[in-house]
Amino acid sequence: MSESHPEPRLQTSLDALSLDQLFREARTPRSWSDQPVGREMLVALYDLLKLGPTSGNCCPARLVFLTADDMKERLRPALSPGNVESCLSAPVVVLVCHDPLFFEHLPRLNREEGLRNWFAADVGLSEETAMRNGSLQGGYLILAARALGLAVAPYSGFDAYSVEDVFLNDTGWRVNFIAGLGYPGPEKAPERAMRLGFDEACLVL
Ligand SMILES: Cc1cc2nc3c(=O)[nH]c(=O)nc-3n(C[C@H](O)[C@H](O)[C@H](O)COP(=O)(O)O)c2cc1C
Repeated sequence: MSESHPEPRLQTSLDALSLDQLFREARTPRSWSDQPVGREMLVALYDLLKLGPTSGNCCPARLVFLTADDMKERLRPALSPGNVESCLSAPVVVLVCHDPLFFEHLPRLNREEGLRNWFAADVGLSEETAMRNGSLQGGYLILAARALGLAVAPYSGFDAYSVEDVFLNDTGWRVNFIAGLGYPGPEKAPERAMRLGFDEACLVL
């Protein structure tokens, strides 16, 4: 088979159980079990999510995994009150960030000449690109975690400047959202809220 025609096994739908695990049965957890999430799992997670596509392979997402209790505690003052308990009780808390200077890595990530300078010369374009693609990579993180059997609880209720001040000062990275990672606890999620139907949310032109 030629290179332009991938093996058919890469073109078939996942089985129903896999689709359940990724989407239909997956829920945002309300509590966490005590089961730890080790470094190997975090590496496996990154090794999957990094393969999701980004524009020009710019790969702007940066992740800060908070695993130690004292590190999680440093996050407490930045969280909205309603998020404190569920977020800080997660076995791992990940700060989903992006690097505004992502373009400095482009000479290694993309062979096209001049790309680094193109982004470096246009702050608006580079910020938009970092936010768009960093958010996509955050979405890949959620689905990669589910694929590995983890549950993910994302949070946007926090003060970004405080988080950046405490954790990101040395890096220059910007935080986009926060997520708890772990295995779900016994507390059942309420009935799933409705989603918009195809005809409400989609146009086929
Ligand atoms: C980017 C993002 C930010 C979120 N922020 C919060 C938050 O600050 N607090 C909260 O309780 N839930 C938050 N959520 C959780 C969503 O409300 C929840 O994932 C969504 O309603 C889907 O729930 P389900 O997975 O049970 O269907 C956030 C989810 C996402 C994707």
